[in-house]
Amino acid sequence: MIAKKIQAIILAAGKSTRFNTGRTKLIEKICGQEMVLYPIKLFKSMHIPITLVLGYQKELVEQVLIQNCEHEHCHIVYQEAQRGTADAVLCSKPTWHADYILVINGDMPLVTQEIIEKLYATHHEKKAVISFVTSHADPLLGSYGRVIQDKENIKIVEAKEFKGDPTEHCCINAGIYLINRDFLQAHINRIQPSEVAQEFYFTDLIKIASDARHTIATITAPFDQIRGINTFKELWVSEQIKKSELISMWMDRGVRFSIAHNVHIDLDVSIGAGSYIGCGSILLKGTKVGNNCKIEEFSSLDNAIVGDSTTILSHCIIKDSAIGTQATIGPFAHIRNQSMLGDKVIVGNFVEIKQSIIGPDSRMKHLAYIGDTVMGSNVNIGAGTITCNHDGANKHKTTIKDNAYIGSNNTLVAPLMVGKGAFTAAGSVITDNVPDNALGIGRARQINKEGYAEKLRKRRTAQQKNADETPFIPAVKTDKDSSITENS
Ligand code: UD1
Ligand code: CA
Repeated sequence: MIAKKIQAIILAAGKSTRFNTGRTKLIEKICGQEMVLYPIKLFKSMHIPITLVLGYQKELVEQVLIQNCEHEHCHIVYQEAQRGTADAVLCSKPTWHADYILVINGDMPLVTQEIIEKLYATHHEKKAVISFVTSHADPLLGSYGRVIQDKENIKIVEAKEFKGDPTEHCCINAGIYLINRDFLQAHINRIQPSEVAQEFYFTDLIKIASDARHTIATITAPFDQIRGINTFKELWVSEQIKKSELISMWMDRGVRFSIAHNVHIDLDVSIGAGSYIGCGSILLKGTKVGNNCKIEEFSSLDNAIVGDSTTILSHCIIKDSAIGTQATIGPFAHIRNQSMLGDKVIVGNFVEIKQSIIGPDSRMKHLAYIGDTVMGSNVNIGAGTITCNHDGANKHKTTIKDNAYIGSNNTLVAPLMVGKGAFTAAGSVITDNVPDNALGIGRARQINKEGYAEKLRKRRTAQQKNADETPFIPAVKTDKDSSITENS
């Protein structure tokens, strides 16, 4: 019902000067999602048609929309020069078609469906021509427009123009307005540039309506839901709020967080019941943690899938990869580039796995690099083993079949295939395929020289005696004392 009557105009053309980055703030992420996508997704879920006003660095915002497949849901219009919020709304005029126009700042990602519904209901009930959302903020917060009201009149005075006592006026304008289309069409052109900033303030429309004795309605919303983001400090606060919401939600679903305020979690993440998330962990967009998992301290999971009952020990980095159930990873493991690890795999300290498939029950417990490899099940990789997948120009594949046992400190020179159940000797450089069930040895044979150690020890003692008897030699090295400096 509400969707048929309303269309939303999202203002996202501003220069974001208070961010001091030179970039538009609309593409800054909050819990892994760009700021501009928050109102878009909200209105999309409410089936409200969207007009998006872009201007400053519009290409960057459009790129975000395309990457997230949201450009189809928005009618985009452009504001050529950033002359203020009224001018931005005016740019959207050719798209106005609904009975009520909902105007909203693009920099308030915490807004909820309830606020929009309440604004609509109140507007309807009061038969207002314009309704807007107010809130109560810390009076010393400088950047909000203040709602100044007496019995007859109501107006919004912008921060730059406000000359009164801020503690007397702590009711602020949230930046969400619902206006009858006819009224908007008739009056938006009457807004004049402001005195101090010479900007066209959309908020002046309230005074215009009030002076003409039209009905104006307001609703109040909790400040934490309408916070605007003009600076990195404000972004940080809003992100903390969003993050707390997400963590509380996962707690309600049976996830235990140790030191919850030290965990970062993105919007597009899921965690199964009974799982534990350790202090300092980072769970980024696309990550899915199964049931009864343990993600220990300071691990970073970025677009990572972790199967049920798997443990990720501390300080692991897992990116764009999937791990099966009941596996144990880390500490200090690095798994990346579309690697897929099967159930019950064990990956230990200082092991890096890149673009590899690892079959179930395989183990690589210490100090290894496995790249561009397809490994079967129940394979053992000895400590210190690496795949030499790069020949300086091209990458090559290594295949290690089921039940193979790679000895410690092996160098596996790809392209290479180690057959089913094959063994390789410790310290080998394996350059040729090893057939099924064979033993590959690729190292120099050891020779023992009987009694040689005793001979060496005698020689050293004699040299030491010589050195002790040599008088002090200054720091200038000559040919004569070279033997002394070399041995000392
Ligand atoms: C605005 C309100 C203020 C309110 C506050 C709430 C005005 C004049 N002031 O102030 O009353 O308390 O929001 O957060 O509206 N934009 C454009 N084109 C422009 C200028 C801005 O599209 O020429 C966009 C910005 O990208 C932003 C939104 O409009 O998304 C609001 O602009 P901003 O400069 O952040 O306004 P505030 O100073 O926060
Ligand atoms: Ca703002």
